[in-house]
Order: sequence, then structure tokens, then C-alpha cells
Amino acid sequence: MSTMSMPSQAIPKDDARPFVEYAFVKGHFAWGYFWFMFAIIGGFLYAGQFLQAYLLPGIEWLSPGRVRMIHTQGVAYGFIANCFLGALYWAVPRLTGQRVTHKYLGYFILYAWNALTLISVVGILFGEAQALEWGENPVWIDPVVLVGLACAAAQFTPALWKTKGKLHYVSIWYFSGALAWTGLVYFMGNFGPEYWAVGTGGAALTGLYIHDLVGLFVTPIGWGLMYYFVPILINKPIWSHKLSLLGFWGLAFFYPLQGIHHFLYSPIPMYAQYGAVVTTIAIEIVVTTVVINFFATLRKREAFMVNSLPVRWFYTGMILYFITCLQCSFQVTLTFQKIIHFTDWVVGHAHLVMFGVFGFWIMGMIEYLWPKVTKAGEWYSNHLSHWSYWLMGIGLIIMFSTLTIAGLVQGYLWRDLAVFEASISASVPFWWARYFSGLMILIGAFITAFNMYKTAEMGRAK
Ligand code: HEM
Repeated sequence: MSTMSMPSQAIPKDDARPFVEYAFVKGHFAWGYFWFMFAIIGGFLYAGQFLQAYLLPGIEWLSPGRVRMIHTQGVAYGFIANCFLGALYWAVPRLTGQRVTHKYLGYFILYAWNALTLISVVGILFGEAQALEWGENPVWIDPVVLVGLACAAAQFTPALWKTKGKLHYVSIWYFSGALAWTGLVYFMGNFGPEYWAVGTGGAALTGLYIHDLVGLFVTPIGWGLMYYFVPILINKPIWSHKLSLLGFWGLAFFYPLQGIHHFLYSPIPMYAQYGAVVTTIAIEIVVTTVVINFFATLRKREAFMVNSLPVRWFYTGMILYFITCLQCSFQVTLTFQKIIHFTDWVVGHAHLVMFGVFGFWIMGMIEYLWPKVTKAGEWYSNHLSHWSYWLMGIGLIIMFSTLTIAGLVQGYLWRDLAVFEASISASVPFWWARYFSGLMILIGAFITAFNMYKTAEMGRAK
């Protein structure tokens, strides 16, 4: 198989500026983790609503519907976007041998992005939400978000373009793709249905937007970072460069066509729905090549799964990614949709991919980088890091599996025309299991927050 090492890390000698800006890695990770905690507290609160145990009843601005929106917006824009930016500040200069565009731009992005997230959250809580799934940010903030995304592209793209070497390492393709696509995706999803494409056309665009946000922003940055971190951590080049490029181009070609699968059996024309089904199944084949590549890379380095917590987070995420995609190729068929549409199966799937895959990769990156960027050199407590891994890992698996079973139970009851209340009563035990698993995740998250804080304190004391 063709292997390819990453480009060499050439540091220009005539430039005294720090090569990697630790402050931005640290800043984005710290904010990202803050939003993670904030968002999952929201998710936990909202989960109580299903059990008639909402902890903050009777307060309009904290009503469950609004809290659900800040849960999803918080994880996407606060947690995932921030942590990915932090990881890019580490990976891009080392990968390309080039500095990011400018330090001041870095400070601007750090403060502006978090101010935007905060304003969006406050806007949503005070009833300013836009009626678009995953586009609930108040309508007046959308143009500013576009400016923020353009700034992020301006910060990293020049370094990526200046990379030396005949062939582009696959991470560079992934990062370049994501930086170019994300602004376009945001524009399509937030402006199209709001101003131009109303009704079914708007719904079709929303479907594309929801999926492209995962497929053209989160996925390419996530995989690009895995292709960067895994070979470094296990000290071995990626198994096949050609296979890695197949994964990238497969994603670029098939992903943008899939989004309508969120609205199967809707009034959207059937040719668009069938197209989405076929391309969704096609992407699973592409995904399999990527997963094979990573597991072939791990051969003879399996001990890292036991000895290195970051590698364990990464590969746990990859196994869950494979499960997500396998599940997806079944759930996208019209036969499956007859049962699972609108059920908790979908919610289980969303948590598996957003947290079990991308969230776990972020946890692995934090595990690896936090002691370095805080200058502590090591974690305050490795023991606590392991506790966090197991609590979040087991919590996520309980959450995903109980919601998947709940979805099947609900779907079959609806198909058999049972009264709706019957499906609610049948769901209650599963919702309790979700509540319990959410608590496990929350405790795991608090443990890491404490560990991060104490580690940063150790770094300051040095
Ligand atoms: C304490 C842990 C968590 C709990 C208790 C929780 C709970 C919930 C609840 C109750 C919903 C609404 C489901 C519905 O409307 O039927 C939801 C939706 C969602 N959550 Fe979480 N969540 C947690 C963690 C996370 C994490 C860490 C992520 C991502 C990193 C995440 C991503 C999502 C997404 C994407 C949705 C939308 C699902 C959909 O619309 O199908 N959640 N969550």
C-alpha cells in the first residue's frame, strides 16, 4: 500500500513569532469545554421534561423548548466549532510549516466567535429564535456568523496553500474543503429558506443544510485532524495515502447530495428523495475505506489502545463512526423509515455521531494537548481522565442503545395504530435510562472540567 508521511515541519528562521500560538489552542479549548458543559446541562434539563421532572418549571425564558435549542446550538457552535478551531491552531502550522495568518485575527476570532455564541443563546432564551432546524440563531446574527466563518478561512487557508511538497497530505485537503464549504453551507441553510425558498423547497434546503453542516464542516475537520494526530501519536505513517484520498473525494462528491434523507416520505419530489437514499448508501462504502485505513494503520501498534488515552478516545470514536454509518445505510431505506421516522431512533443516532464520534475525538485531542498548552506537562490526575473516559463512554452507549430500542418500540406501536398515549407510556422506562445515562455523561464532564482546571493551575505555578 502507498504510504505517505506528513509534510516536514519547516520553521522560517527569520521570524521570531511563536510557531504555534498556544494561547489560541488553550482559549478555544477552554471556551469549547465551557459550552460543552453549558449545552449538556441544557440537554439534561430537557431530558427531565419527558419524565414530567423538568427542574425549572414556570420560567418563560427557561422553558423546555428554548432550552432544547440552546442544547443543540451549544454543542454545534460552542463546543464543536471552538474545539476544532483550537485543534487547527495546533495542527495547521505543524502540518504545513507555515504560521497562521495573524495573531490579532486570532484574538478577534476567539472573542468574536464566543460573543456570537453567547448572543445567540441569549437571543434564543428571550424568544428570538429563527424557525430553522440548527439555524435557530436569531436572524439578525446570521450575517455576522458569515463574517466569522470568512475570518476563520482567512486565518488558516493561506498556510494550507503555501504547503511545500509535491502531494498534498490528506488533512490539507480536508481542512481546505471544510474552510471553503462551511460559509457556503451556512449561507444556503440560513438565508435560502428564510428569504427565497419557502415551503417544500425551503424544507429541502434545510435538509441539505443540517446534513452538510455535519458532512462538510464537522466531518472533514474531524477526519483531517485524525489523519494528523493518529500517525503522530502512534508513530507510524497512515497505511494508504491513495485510500485516504478516495475517502476525501468520496465525501466531497456524495455528501452534498444526501440531505433530503431527513425528509423522506415528505412532499419533496421522489427523485430527490431516491437520490438522497442512493448517495447515503454510497457514502457508507466510502466511510468503510477510511475506517479500514485507520485500523490498518493501527496494526502492530494495538497496545496504544490500552496505554494511550488519546488514542483510545480516537479509536473508540472510529468504531462508533463505523456503527453510525452502518446504521445509517439501513435507516435511510424507505422500508426502515416506515417504522423509525420521527421516533427516538433518530435522537439516538444524533448522539452517537455528534458525541460518540466527534465529541470523543475532541476529548482525545484535549487529553493530548491540554497539558502541553497549559505548560503543566502532565495531567493533574490520570486517574480522573480514565474515570471520565469510562463514564462518558458507557453513558453514551446506554443513551444510544436505549433510544434506539425506544425508537423501534414507538415505531411499531404507531404502525399498529395504537393510541399515541400508549407509545408515550411505553417510552417512559427508556427515557429514564436516557436521564440516567445523561447523568453519567454529566459527571464525566465535570470530572474532566475539574482536571483541566487543576492542570492549568499546575501550569501557572511552573
Ligand atoms: C448529558 C448528556 C445529554 C443529554 C441528557 C442530552 C439530551 C438530549 C435531549 C433530551 C434531546 C432532545 C430530544 C428530542 O427532542 O426528542 C437532545 C437532542 C440532541 N442532542 Fe443531546 N443530550 C446530551 C448530550 C449531547 C451531546 C454531548 C451532544 C453532541 C456533542 C448532543 C447532541 C444532540 C443533538 C444533535 C440533538 C438533536 C437530535 C435530533 O433532533 O434528532 N447531545 N439531547
